[in-house]
Amino acid sequence: MARHLITSALPYINGIKHLGNMVGSMLPADVYARFLRQTGREALYICATDEHGTPAELAAKEAGLPVDAFCAQQHDVQKAIYAGFNISFDYFGRSSSPENREITQHFARQLEKNGFIEERSIRQVYSLADGRFLPDRYIVGTCPHCAYDKARGDQCENCTRVLDPTDLIDARSAISGSSDLEVRETKHLFLLQSKLQGEVEAWIDEHGKDWPVLASSIARKWLTEGLNDRAITRDLDWGVPVPADTWPELAAEGKVFYVWFDAPVEYIGATKEWADQDAENRDWKSWWYEAEDVRYTQFMAKDNVPFHTVMFPATELGTREPWKKVDYVKAFNWLTYYGGKFSTSQQRGIFTDAALELLPADYWRYFLMANAPESDDSSFTWEHFAGTVNKDLADTLGNFVNRVLSFSRKRFGDEVPAGLEEGEAEAELGRQIAELLAEYERYMEEMQFRKAAQALRALWSAGNSYLETKAPWLEIKTNPEGAALTLRTAMNLIHLYAIVSEPFIPASAAAMRSAFQLEGDTATWVTQDEAKSLTFVPAGTPFTVPPVLFAKITEDDLEAYRERFGANDAQADA
Ligand code: MF3
Ligand code: ZN
Repeated sequence: MARHLITSALPYINGIKHLGNMVGSMLPADVYARFLRQTGREALYICATDEHGTPAELAAKEAGLPVDAFCAQQHDVQKAIYAGFNISFDYFGRSSSPENREITQHFARQLEKNGFIEERSIRQVYSLADGRFLPDRYIVGTCPHCAYDKARGDQCENCTRVLDPTDLIDARSAISGSSDLEVRETKHLFLLQSKLQGEVEAWIDEHGKDWPVLASSIARKWLTEGLNDRAITRDLDWGVPVPADTWPELAAEGKVFYVWFDAPVEYIGATKEWADQDAENRDWKSWWYEAEDVRYTQFMAKDNVPFHTVMFPATELGTREPWKKVDYVKAFNWLTYYGGKFSTSQQRGIFTDAALELLPADYWRYFLMANAPESDDSSFTWEHFAGTVNKDLADTLGNFVNRVLSFSRKRFGDEVPAGLEEGEAEAELGRQIAELLAEYERYMEEMQFRKAAQALRALWSAGNSYLETKAPWLEIKTNPEGAALTLRTAMNLIHLYAIVSEPFIPASAAAMRSAFQLEGDTATWVTQDEAKSLTFVPAGTPFTVPPVLFAKITEDDLEAYRERFGANDAQADA
């Protein structure tokens, strides 16, 4: 049986992420990892903060901290937020780790040995006022394509075109604002991706067949445009240093690798960080090197796809070593905020820390996954969010749980009641549940999360329909034994919901599971037979009534959220 390796795009260290980042990477990866583990598969879910590059240096400067201290602090901040979202990483590492430095340098040496790296002299912008080169975001100016006047040296945020610092018009330093700049010759390492084009193409032909269209179409587009050789070093203080044993001169000049060179390697680096925590029992290499039994799934938003489907595989191929390459790329479109962009730089939309202050993680997890931007962009609005929470979570699931348990306790005490044997209605319900469960499982296997969420909701609804039809609150008057059967069956549904809802809403699922005092590991997945017979919690099992699982979002709450998060502004300039 395959072992499953799962990674989600490494969040940049330079600030707290918004819900759009969450739904396009960590959250779906977590839902999938939880599903695999519950269904008995071995899964390793690895992520880390992406800590190098000019965004980190500039953010540290703004925070008035040395860059290493800034990264250490922000790593802890992000880690705590993801714990708050119940993201079940096996390890959450840091791309600035010694492990990543070692493996990144190894990759570079291998590429050099195999003739895929070349030293080239290039013209770079140098700031006389700052006494340094200005790579990437250290330089700002007017975009030559769209005339946006705050374009950065690596990319124009307005028209998204990739730029070179020397393309900018009226360029100035992002550090000092000085325009006292000159162009100087300096040496950098280039990765000769053009030499690997054919191999990458062949690899995608073979392995990209089953990827979702979003991922494979982006990969193809990049290949059609042709793989360019690209500079993989920078003149920065913070980064993985170019190894002196291989490039003494560049190392002496203090060159470091470009952040996009070391970041994907950190998937491996973080796995080694994980193993180094418990070296006797964990073997990082078995997950990455000659790892034929490993199925590797990556999660990311669409802007990350070229790096993961083309450039990193090219790097791996160029090492001429059997590093594990991705098997399945689950890519996402954008989540918008009222149709406009979530923006970190403009602080528009909802950030993960603010979300958790407002409401428990499960409310966000469920809404985001049920509306995951899979086939298209999807839009967050407070109205849609409140509607979904109130209807699906509060009414359909939460109310069912509380109604059944409170009513049964009131009438039959705090043990699951005995009553009649299961009859035709229960057999029919069991068949229906088993069918819906099979559908849910299929969508989860396929990582079709919106459809999986729909199937999960259908499972919850089936319980409600059963309850409405049997109406135990009426049944109790004429046929108390029948009412006991209805409630016992409904309680079995609650236990089933607790198990199968776990990937989406783990905290609420745990609360539901702990309503019944059962022995052993109660989170293990449900079989078809168990779903059909619905006899997890036998008569006589003690239970408690958990506190209300989901509170409804009121009109007043909605008003306050819209006010605080500026729903109308976003609409205006969307
Ligand atoms: N930090 C990048 C982003 O947020 C993603 C890096 S993914 C990895 O867009 F491949 F570099 F790890
Ligand atoms: Zn532009």
